[in-house]
Amino acid sequence: MASYVFLLLSYLLVSSASACDRCVHKSKTSYFSSPSSLAGGACGYGTTVTELYGGRYPVAAAASSLYRGGVGCGGCFQIRCKNRKFCTGAGVKVVVTDLNKSNQTDLVLSLPAFLGMAKDGMGRTLKRLGDVDVEYKRVPCEYSSHHNLSFRVEESSRRPAHLVVKLLYQGGQTEIVAVDVARVGSSDWQYMTRDFGAIWSTGRAPTGALQFRLVVTGGYDGKWVWAEEVLPADWRTGAVYDAGVQINDIAQESCFPCDSEVWK
Ligand SMILES: *[C@@H]1O[C@H](CO)[C@@H](O)[C@H](O)[C@H]1NC(C)=O
Ligand SMILES: *[C@@H]1O[C@H](CO)[C@@H](O)[C@H](O)[C@H]1NC(C)=O
Ligand SMILES: *[C@@H]1O[C@H](CO)[C@@H](O)[C@H](O)[C@H]1NC(C)=O
Repeated sequence: MASYVFLLLSYLLVSSASACDRCVHKSKTSYFSSPSSLAGGACGYGTTVTELYGGRYPVAAAASSLYRGGVGCGGCFQIRCKNRKFCTGAGVKVVVTDLNKSNQTDLVLSLPAFLGMAKDGMGRTLKRLGDVDVEYKRVPCEYSSHHNLSFRVEESSRRPAHLVVKLLYQGGQTEIVAVDVARVGSSDWQYMTRDFGAIWSTGRAPTGALQFRLVVTGGYDGKWVWAEEVLPADWRTGAVYDAGVQINDIAQESCFPCDSEVWK
C-alpha cells in the first residue's frame, strides 16, 4: 500500500513537471461552427456536455498535447486573443470536454467561448476573422456553490459488479490519476481503470452503498480525496450522484519562468 502510493506520487511529480500547463502558451484558435461537433466524444461527457458545463464554462476541444490521453478532460483554461482592438485582456475561461485530433491549434473553442474573448460589439468582427492568435494558460475550475464533484453512472454498467462512472465537476487545477471504490463501511478497496476521458470502470464493484477515494494532483504531490457514501445500494444508470466534496487543489509545477499575473 505505502509503496503503491509512493510509486503513484513519483509518477505524478514526473508527469506534472513536464506539463507546465499553467505557464502562458501561444497558439492560434478557431471555433466549431456546429455546436454538435463538440459533443464531448473523446472525454465521454456526451451530448449533454453543454448542459453540464455550459452554465459555468463554455466548452473547448484540446489538441492531444493538452488532452493527454484523457487526463486533461475537465481542465480549465483562460484564453485571450492577442488583438486588443477586438479582444478583452481577460479573455474567457473554458473547460476541456473533447479532443481535436488535428493538432493545428492547441484549443478549438465552441462559438460561445470564441465570442467570449471579444470586446463589447466586436463579436461579429472576431467571428469573421475565424482564426486568431491567442495566448492561454491553465486556471483552476471553480464550481463552489454550484456543483460538488459528482459521479454519473453510465448506461454501460451491469449489475451486480460492472460499474462504469463518469466524473463531473472536477474543481481546482488538478488531475485525477486514480479512483478506488469500496462498500460503505468496508476498507476492501477495488481500483477502477480509466476507460477513456472522464470515464472510469471496474468489473469488481461491491454490492451495497458505495464510497470512493481518488488520487488527485495537488501542491507538488498527489493527495487522497475521500467521497463517503456516494452511490446508494440501488444506484441507477443515467443518474448523477453528488459526492459531497469539492476539489480545490492546485497542482504546482516547477517550470519557471511562469506567469503568475491575473488576467483581467
Ligand atoms: C479540429 O478543429 C478544426 C478547426 O481547427 C476543425 O476544422 C476540425 O473539424 C476539428 N477536427 C476534429 C476531429 O474534431
Ligand atoms: C497529434 O499529436 C499526437 C501526439 O503528438 C500524435 O500522436 C498525432 O498523430 C497527431 N495528429 C496529427 C493529425 O498530426
Ligand atoms: C456539496 O457538498 C456539501 C457537503 O457535503 C453539501 O452540504 C452541499 O449541499 C453540496 N452541494 C450541492 C450543490 O449539492
